[in-house]
Amino acid sequence: MVKLVIIVLMILLTVSGVSPACGRAEYLIGQECCPMCGPGYYVREHCTKFTSTTCVPCPSSTYTDAPNGLVSCRSCTVCHSIYPNIGAGLRVKRACSSTSDTVCEPLEGHYCTDPIKDGCRGAVEYTKCSPGQYINQTGTASTDTVCGDCVGDTYSNGSFTSCRPHTRCELIGLVVLREGSSSYDTDCGQRQNTVAIVAGIIAGVAVLAATCGAVAFICNRRKRTRKAQPGKNVHVSYHLIIVIIKAYCYHD
Ligand SMILES: *[C@@H]1O[C@H](CO)[C@@H](O)[C@H](O)[C@H]1NC(C)=O
Ligand SMILES: *[C@@H]1O[C@H](CO)[C@@H](O)[C@H](O)[C@H]1NC(C)=O
Repeated sequence: MVKLVIIVLMILLTVSGVSPACGRAEYLIGQECCPMCGPGYYVREHCTKFTSTTCVPCPSSTYTDAPNGLVSCRSCTVCHSIYPNIGAGLRVKRACSSTSDTVCEPLEGHYCTDPIKDGCRGAVEYTKCSPGQYINQTGTASTDTVCGDCVGDTYSNGSFTSCRPHTRCELIGLVVLREGSSSYDTDCGQRQNTVAIVAGIIAGVAVLAATCGAVAFICNRRKRTRKAQPGKNVHVSYHLIIVIIKAYCYHD
């Protein structure tokens, strides 16, 4: 029975022209099983009945990562950082070698949308939370940022990791200048006291008038003194205020 099956198989193979399967480290070319080239190499010449496969190293920027019967090496993947390249937002995680392809990873601030075995084929920028939202979960290499809305008397400008309560002006002895919203804080300011402002203006005017009067008085006295003693040398080593008064009095 076994003999019969083998005979039938051999007849079938002969009729169909299919060669027997090649060994694990061999590849089929025409009717021949040729030895494969190792990783980092490719086939320059297939084997013949009399010669083995001729293997040569991969040129730069190409690779083969397994035993192969390839007549050229594969091109190294390029990690694109710039859109609109397909699979952008990437940078090199591990450079290409003759025996392994480039491995890319997301750029800073990006997450992978097309993951492959320990690498990434495409990444996009994290979502930016809007004003009125907080960052509930910061983005990772594989997940986007998660935003949450601020509710109640809280706010966030979009970059906070939690909503902050509005400042309560009355607790710090101030009054509300602008009510807060979900995206900005309440503005506080000094109490607008009309009586105090009017009193302040009156006091200011009074001080100014008194100063002017004092200056005029001193000037008149000095002018009279100078007329009375014209030959006397006046020293300039006076205090600053006296210098200013002199300039004012004698500038004509
Ligand atoms: C924020 O994240 C927590 C888990 O970390 C989740 O339970 C909650 O629902 C999230 N809130 C929003 C608004 O996404
Ligand atoms: C939000 O506020 C922080 C500090 O209060 C500031 O550094 C940041 O630039 C602000 N972000 C935006 C988007 O306005």
